[in-house]
Amino acid sequence: MFDSMKEGNAYRCLINGRWVSGRQPPIEVIQPADKRVLGTVPALSKEEVDEAFAAAKEAQKQWAETPVSERSALLHEASYLLEERAEEIADVLSREISKDYASSLSEVKRTADFIRFTADEGKHLAGRTVGADSFPGFHKRRFSIVTRVPLGVVLAISPFNYPVNLSASKIAPALVAGNSVILKPPTSGAISALHLAAVFSEAGLPAGVLNTVTGRGSEIGDYLVTHPMVDFISFTGSTAVGKRIARQVGMVPLLLELGGKDAAIVLEDADLDDAAKDIVSGAYSYSGQRCTAVKRVLVVESVADALVEKLKERVLALKTGMPHEKVQITPLISDQAADYVQELIDDALAKGAKLVCGNRREGNLLWPTLFDFVTTDMRLAWEEPFGPVLPVIRIQDAEEGIEIANRSEYGLQAAVFTKNIDLAFSIAERLEVGTVHINNKTERGPDHFPFLGVKSSGMGTQGIRYSIEAMSRPKVVVVNLEP
Ligand code: NAP
Ligand code: G3H
Repeated sequence: MFDSMKEGNAYRCLINGRWVSGRQPPIEVIQPADKRVLGTVPALSKEEVDEAFAAAKEAQKQWAETPVSERSALLHEASYLLEERAEEIADVLSREISKDYASSLSEVKRTADFIRFTADEGKHLAGRTVGADSFPGFHKRRFSIVTRVPLGVVLAISPFNYPVNLSASKIAPALVAGNSVILKPPTSGAISALHLAAVFSEAGLPAGVLNTVTGRGSEIGDYLVTHPMVDFISFTGSTAVGKRIARQVGMVPLLLELGGKDAAIVLEDADLDDAAKDIVSGAYSYSGQRCTAVKRVLVVESVADALVEKLKERVLALKTGMPHEKVQITPLISDQAADYVQELIDDALAKGAKLVCGNRREGNLLWPTLFDFVTTDMRLAWEEPFGPVLPVIRIQDAEEGIEIANRSEYGLQAAVFTKNIDLAFSIAERLEVGTVHINNKTERGPDHFPFLGVKSSGMGTQGIRYSIEAMSRPKVVVVNLEP
């Protein structure tokens, strides 16, 4: 299946049903763990990007006419093939983005589930009939028939940390709704994403319905997002790039999944063992490189010592090493990413935070780091490290926790740990985030739940049904019968 997508380790892009090598010198994709070249991907020129868009525009017309049962069946086939190739793709993914192998395999399998669920959900997307007579002054022989139609060409831009899952979470809903897709994968993660595209192609997707364009976002990003053939953009990535896209695209509808600084608020009556377990797994899995990672702990003073002790015990038990080993902490995606995390650590140390454990580094491999007594003048209290470092901020009460949680520019998720369910609900109501978890870590799944960020964390709602709705629109035909 993967033979035609590459020659040696030179990968190609899928454009109009063919695997093409770019006309410009390709980009090397470096394995973060050992800095070896995993392969190359094309750095597509503007002309090649235009060819991809032209193919997508043309193919979409026929794809929209294809019965949804057939579109759904094709997605089922893709899901089956992905599951069948899960180990092979997980191996590439693990090496390409330095994600531990178990988590890589779980990303691929979760993606197969996602595509399958989307295939089923797409068949239930129905319109409705609205009678005019419910509005004063109108009679019942006038009514509107509302159906849902695709938007056209969807530009999907995915981030490095889930190149398979967060590419498929855009592709599958777009396709089942009758759109065609241009996928711009992250440069670190492009090879894994091309494997996903190969799976869709092998499943029998008609030429041009899914196309991939590789190249550095900083070079082709502006050209892509302002391309006249784009009808919808689904972007997941940093807040800085998301805001840049939003400024440029004018009236093109946009879905943005951006950064976060998810707070875990721990109250006096919380089960501290459970809280510590969830917080550590939420903060450090994939070395903290998850939008939904717990990125700060706000704990009431009276239980702070006990919680920090439990956190420390669990953090010290985390294993650090290479992605193919049985570890939780692996090298970060790049040296620059590690430098940034180190800056935040150094700033916290300089301003008097207490280092509980960690702050050891070899290149881009950072050992899991825990800080206590972090205060609101430190960068670590507000910035998203995207690395294995967790600040504990001590608070007087829930009120102060809500205030600090809401003072963030981000609003992705939050967690509240307490046995008082009434209090948990009232705190949840006041937190300015898309989702609040009561007595659990912050996390995205299950993938059919609505998923959204507010403030600088995003715009619009993902989640299987929500994504299909976002990538389609109502079409209204009004019937006027003789009164
Ligand atoms: P990123 O640097 O913003 O890159 C995301 C994607 O945008 C990549 O494909 C990148 O391509 C592309 N890109 C870069 N510059 C562009 C431009 N000017 N125009 C259009 N596209 C451009 O983010 P990342 O480092 O991959 O991912 C980490 C960030 O994503 C974190 O902030 C994290 O919180 C966020 N994230 C959010 C969610 C969520 O659901 N809310 C999920 C995952 C990640 P290149 O790789 O070629 O630069
Ligand atoms: O990085 C952002 C992902 O959407 C988070 O998904 O909570 O399942 O790790 P996750």
